Amino acid sequence: MSTNINPDNLPSAPELEKLANQLFKAGPTGFFGQSPTFTPQGSALPGELPGIGSFDAPIPHTAPDQSIPPSTIGGGGISPSAINQGNAVNLKDPQTSFADPNLKSDQQILPHVPVYSTPVFGGQLPTQQNFSYDSYLEKTDLIPHTPTKQQFPIEQLSVVPDNLLQLPYQQDQHFETELRKVLDGINTSGPGVSIPFYGAPSTPEIPFYFLNGNHGLPSVKHNPDKASKAGISSIIDLPFDVNIIRRDFPILQERVNGKQLVWLDNAATTQKPKQVIDRISYFYEHENSNIHRAAHELAARATDAYEGARRKVQAFLNAASINEIIFVRGATEAINLVAKSWGEQNLHSGDEIIVSHLEHHANIVPWQQLATKKGLKIKVIPVDDDGQVLLDEYVKLLGPKTKLVSFTQVSNALGTVTPAAQIIQLAHLAGAKVLVDGAQSVSHMPVNVQALDADWFVFSGHKVFGPTGIGVLYGKEDLLNETQPWQGGGNMIKDVTFEHTQYHDAPGRFEAGTGNIADAVGLGAAIDYVTKIGMPVIAKYEHYLLVYATQLLKEVKGLRLIGTAPDKASVISFVLDGYKTEDVGAALNNEGIAVRSGHHCAQPILRRFGVESSVRPSLAFYNTCAEIDLLVNTLHSLKR
Ligand code: ALA
Repeated sequence: MSTNINPDNLPSAPELEKLANQLFKAGPTGFFGQSPTFTPQGSALPGELPGIGSFDAPIPHTAPDQSIPPSTIGGGGISPSAINQGNAVNLKDPQTSFADPNLKSDQQILPHVPVYSTPVFGGQLPTQQNFSYDSYLEKTDLIPHTPTKQQFPIEQLSVVPDNLLQLPYQQDQHFETELRKVLDGINTSGPGVSIPFYGAPSTPEIPFYFLNGNHGLPSVKHNPDKASKAGISSIIDLPFDVNIIRRDFPILQERVNGKQLVWLDNAATTQKPKQVIDRISYFYEHENSNIHRAAHELAARATDAYEGARRKVQAFLNAASINEIIFVRGATEAINLVAKSWGEQNLHSGDEIIVSHLEHHANIVPWQQLATKKGLKIKVIPVDDDGQVLLDEYVKLLGPKTKLVSFTQVSNALGTVTPAAQIIQLAHLAGAKVLVDGAQSVSHMPVNVQALDADWFVFSGHKVFGPTGIGVLYGKEDLLNETQPWQGGGNMIKDVTFEHTQYHDAPGRFEAGTGNIADAVGLGAAIDYVTKIGMPVIAKYEHYLLVYATQLLKEVKGLRLIGTAPDKASVISFVLDGYKTEDVGAALNNEGIAVRSGHHCAQPILRRFGVESSVRPSLAFYNTCAEIDLLVNTLHSLKR
């Protein structure tokens, strides 16, 4: 069901939040047993990770016991020997600053917390002043203007069991009426875009705006026939409410050409939740300093925040060690790093590199450059007419000269999910190393680099709801430490004389110069965000949107899907008979719908299908069936 309302008559988001706060303050107790105020987070138990709705301090700075000696930090980069890998932390140890205030000192166990113990300048870090991100958020007077305080505690609402989801509305208080009236409209419609409230089909009216009995049912009411054709009813149990999620993404309220933005260009970049935006602002407002290099409070905060983000990436990828996570600018830089360090060092004339036909230019060009320079040969795994890699053909390409297999886990142009584990296993049997391009996979599916057994795995932060300009190279620790660095400078050295330089081990070895500290911290917040929702839940919901969209697009006259592999993730590519792809893109843009049209930096695979460009809607977990309906209806009208 949807209600068409004029958005111009609606109060602005801040006004609404103010209204909601006032109303909730006036209301009865009963929201999680507390007064139902709009506060972020607030209820994380000691020792629990705060989650969506707030952001946590990557590593608590809180040290309430003032007898704890200060930690020491030093310049010149990470000392691998100084990285605590999960042993019990002794609070009397001057290297430790990561106390959990709820535990006695001899109970502290903080895995993977880096400790900087090589004070090059001999500096002692001042005791940190009960400073933490969480405590910051709790002190409302510190941040009267901070929108995060007005944010819904989404982790309380979207993932807790139904029986905990109690709201004041349920007691039918007078104050709810006004709020309900206004917010119902907002969540159920926009100009031209009907974002259905995914409520129980039997509910006679759309309920208030962020809760009802069944969470996250795409379009069952909106378009029951199509939904059931797409097998939509099967996700009825998902603990996921897309409307709650959408509230975390301010840009989704943006208007384009007078219409509410429909962001279907997620393969190019994803939108950022407020938790990420606020985390970066907080870094610049309270933590900004260079890292690893000074004996002052802000250096400690910045270093802890940065290394905390590294720890989050490690957990996200299930890497064996924090030393295996290298921050880079993005997936492209990560691949270039491997080509220009390991490749330069280990590949020789006559050696062979295998890539797949699906690759993004970033996983072709660096190898080509190296091949030209060194006399290497590049071989290509073909795909079938659906866009699936042909494993039989791949096996034929493998041989004693194969030194590297570099392939994508998900195609950015077609959405094909490749059989990564098999490709890696076969490469290893042939004695080759393997690089996996995870730029399009990490935001859509759980990734486990140890299970995959990839030698390197790369991804970009901005494709997983984090900032641009930050990305990750994962590499097996021994391999990284056997590889010569590709860039020299500060941070990556142990000792420098005019005659000789001694390098750090990874990760410092590959992080010369001042990196993108704030955005690494922002990436950590993005990882917290998706982790809190749960990558399996995200994968399931998106799969379902993909099925829904594919079913409907097939019905558009003259539309040809490019890439129809059974195993696909969140990308749909097509061409429309009689229309240039850029014209389709422009027509969709008129309706506020953003898709990419072009070659998607993957010309070889599009040419394999006889086209130079395609229209590419690509999905994320904040998209809805209603948005897909709008996309499809616009295409139908084009054809009409
Ligand atoms: N690699 C990005 C895309 O596929 C930019 O659009």
